[in-house]
Amino acid sequence: MERSSVGGRRGTRWLVTGAGGQLGRSLLRVAPEFGIEAIGRSDTELDVVDGDAVARTFEELRPDVVLNCAAFTQVDWCEDHVDEAMRVNGTGPRVLARACANHALLVHISTEYVFAGETHRPIDESAKPAPRSAYGRSKLAGEEAVREVDGEHLIVRTQWLFGPGPNFVRTIRSAAARGQTLHVVEDQVGRPTWSGALARALLQAEALGARGMLHLACEGMASWYDLALAAVSEGTQRGLNPSVEVRPVATSEVPRSAMRPPYAVLGLERARQLGIEMSHWRKALSAYLTAEAEGRDA
Ligand SMILES: NC(=O)c1ccc[n+]([C@@H]2O[C@H](COP(=O)([O-])OP(=O)(O)OC[C@H]3O[C@@H](n4cnc5c(N)ncnc54)[C@H](OP(=O)(O)O)[C@@H]3O)[C@@H](O)[C@H]2O)c1
Repeated sequence: MERSSVGGRRGTRWLVTGAGGQLGRSLLRVAPEFGIEAIGRSDTELDVVDGDAVARTFEELRPDVVLNCAAFTQVDWCEDHVDEAMRVNGTGPRVLARACANHALLVHISTEYVFAGETHRPIDESAKPAPRSAYGRSKLAGEEAVREVDGEHLIVRTQWLFGPGPNFVRTIRSAAARGQTLHVVEDQVGRPTWSGALARALLQAEALGARGMLHLACEGMASWYDLALAAVSEGTQRGLNPSVEVRPVATSEVPRSAMRPPYAVLGLERARQLGIEMSHWRKALSAYLTAEAEGRDA
């Protein structure tokens, strides 16, 4: 059973794996604001499944905290590449957890896809996972691996990330800029979350000594349709084609390889009780678009 507890601050030298992705890039950018020295390793610099390479990196860097952002995150791709997904999302965290044991705190990132998302209320940390996709099963295997090794760890589930790199908001804005009519799913609900806000919350959670399982996402909730409308409307204020049309469609009208959780709203009560305040997703979207316009990772 997961122990959710509060320990002491672990230290100021962080190793970030999967550092070329959205969250990794955001973390590297905001870490100095928290007095943290964050050292990033992208997939080409460190394959988290390679135990020897991980051991050499630990020997070289001696991190206090390891933030694992490495993952295969394309959910439809995972459905068609189950073994590769399990290798990176399931085995990778085990390799890192073993390397961290007795040496470093492992902060591992997971997802709302571990849940079926069929209850119409926010899902708290103690809810029973029931993944409906290969991606969700591989991420759940990663969580279980971290717990089994039983070193000092914090597993953070998050959702619907947008940040530096390919993401839904960027896709919508590119399509809108080309004047395409957009058909966007309106019957899946979640919490759109800026990776910059999540990075700050992770640093805060570590400083507060959070351990065990923690849900972190921006406040508020939305459908993909709501998020697309907001992305286009923010874009219009910033010079994007105002005539673009966004139309709502049902999930059943957009066949995909992987099943999506329809109501995947992570419960944020534990984060609030710890004193971690996440901004509302609309405010976060605006901050993200400002950062993008200014050419900043965040
Ligand atoms: N994106 C979301 O909406 C979302 C939602 C909930 C949870 N999460 C979780 O949040 C974390 C960060 O997500 P993100 O959006 O930042 O993902 P991302 O942008 O896809 O970044 C993941 C990074 O991991 C790298 N990677 C893949 N295999 C690796 C390996 N064997 N060793 C080292 N690095 C490897 C990827 O490289 P390549 O690009 O070259 O493969 C990519 O740079 C992940 O654990 C993800 O499951 C994401």
